[in-house]
Amino acid sequence: MLEVQNVELFYGAAIALRGVSLQAQVGETTCILGRNGVGKTSLLRAITGAHPISKGSIRWEGHEISKLPIYERAKRGIAWVPQGRDIFPLLTVRENLETGFAVLPSRQRRIPEEMFELFPILKSMLGRRGGDLSGGQQQQLAIARALVMKPRLLVLDEPTEGIQPSIIKDIGRVIDLLRGRGEMAIVLVEQYFDFARDLGSRLIVMDRGDIVVNSLRADLDEQDVRRRLSV
Ligand SMILES: Nc1ncnc2c1ncn2[C@@H]1O[C@H](COP(=O)(O)OP(=O)(O)O)[C@@H](O)[C@H]1O
Ligand SMILES: [Mg+2]
Repeated sequence: MLEVQNVELFYGAAIALRGVSLQAQVGETTCILGRNGVGKTSLLRAITGAHPISKGSIRWEGHEISKLPIYERAKRGIAWVPQGRDIFPLLTVRENLETGFAVLPSRQRRIPEEMFELFPILKSMLGRRGGDLSGGQQQQLAIARALVMKPRLLVLDEPTEGIQPSIIKDIGRVIDLLRGRGEMAIVLVEQYFDFARDLGSRLIVMDRGDIVVNSLRADLDEQDVRRRLSV
């Protein structure tokens, strides 16, 4: 389980997280919703170690990880699919996938065949350059690259952003399949409410660096959440 407690995060003098607390369980998808600029990406940076926190604690599998560098957290099974995908444009699809190997012991450094069952499109594109893929294909590649690390905590930052509906559906199916195996905790940041509601066991809404709703899907006040997401 992931336990975030009372986390504060600053950029210089500007506060981005004001004492955020949440938990994410293995076998569940925890969705974080919120308008632009409320701190969703900052929360993922705090979890992955991409930006230091100034207060609070982050525990993963029972250990405090908030002081560990990003690489150590990756070795503990935390994989991040960043907003905007960050595919290496000049590397091939295969090379992009292989960058996920860095955190694995050498005997485990192979791309599981299963990756191509999850994302069939990638198999025919292994030799293509990342930069030549469509936005949706790059998103699938970014998720596959994270999965190559065999994560136990997968965090995804707006995987539907700028992507066509058919690929959004495919990505949703993969996320739900991974969740259903019960082997990883998934934290999904989204602005697209329907996608989050369909996938999330728990839905969390942020506003101005704070959590304002934290609800099981079954108990969700959908009207309230939609109102908080509209500008
Ligand atoms: N690298 C940064 N330097 C300074 N301010 C930042 C940086 N990244 C984000 N911010 C600010 O922090 C706040 C939260 O941003 P972010 O976490 O990216 O929000 P979201 O992902 O919800 O859109 C915003 O006010 C944003 O302008
Ligand atoms: Mg963001």
